[in-house]
Amino acid sequence: MKKAIIIGASSGIGRELAKIYAENNYILGLAARRVELLCRLRDELNTETYVKYIDISKPEEAMNQLSGLIAEMKDIDLIIITSGTGHINQELDWRKEKDTIDVNVIGVTSMMDVSLKYFIEKNSGQLAVISSIAALRGGSDSPAYNASKAYISNYLEGIRCKVKKENLNITITDIRPGPVDTDMAKGDGLFWVQPAEKAARQIYAKINKKKAVAYVTKRWRVMVFIMKNILNQLLYKM
Ligand SMILES: NC(=O)c1ccc[n+]([C@@H]2O[C@H](COP(=O)([O-])OP(=O)(O)OC[C@H]3O[C@@H](n4cnc5c(N)ncnc54)[C@H](OP(=O)(O)O)[C@@H]3O)[C@@H](O)[C@H]2O)c1
Repeated sequence: MKKAIIIGASSGIGRELAKIYAENNYILGLAARRVELLCRLRDELNTETYVKYIDISKPEEAMNQLSGLIAEMKDIDLIIITSGTGHINQELDWRKEKDTIDVNVIGVTSMMDVSLKYFIEKNSGQLAVISSIAALRGGSDSPAYNASKAYISNYLEGIRCKVKKENLNITITDIRPGPVDTDMAKGDGLFWVQPAEKAARQIYAKINKKKAVAYVTKRWRVMVFIMKNILNQLLYKM
């Protein structure tokens, strides 16, 4: 049986992904801070499931905890990092900006690095990280969130170049969802909001196809073209 770890499996997209991977007979490692939710999810899943408390805003501890989970489970095929946070922060409250950077930039990098070093050591595996279409442009309501997702996507491109240059048998997948109906979907004027289960099914398919970059759901590909080419004058009004 294949083995996958999902960091950020306690709610939303990560929780739906866990259910899909269990349906597909993966042995699972589930991590997040709300261990009680992870345990409840484990009880619902029909597969061998490990649960680990990991708070990625404390990166040194989190790195040890992820290494511990990998050592406990052994022979991991896939690590998915879906942990993330975001705030509407028009007032530029520093605590909110810092929280976003701590989790989405420093925390996610710490998890990417442990995962990548593990896969390099055994020269196989796949790392998939949930970025966002927010990575494409700056956002006036949540500047740190958009910037943090741009960082993740850029970092993933960097490590994809590294594995290709070193001819390693490792896949790096950057998933960029549009709005998904979870606790994270905040703000007015959201459109094309997708149910978490639908988004997770498409994410599962993209990861299986070993995509480098994938937009979810498919209709967002048109919007991506527009977002990439939109004139700054229009962006400033959004
Ligand atoms: N919803 C959207 O519209 C949307 C769109 C594009 C991208 N995304 C991205 O999708 C990912 C999942 O978000 P979601 O929409 O499923 O929202 P969610 O239900 O709020 O899930 C967020 C997950 O991140 C975990 N997390 C947050 N802080 C953490 C920390 N310090 N340490 C470890 N885990 C932490 C949470 O677990 P604990 O609280 O239990 O630790 C939870 O499992 C995020 O990266 C988000 O940016 C979401």
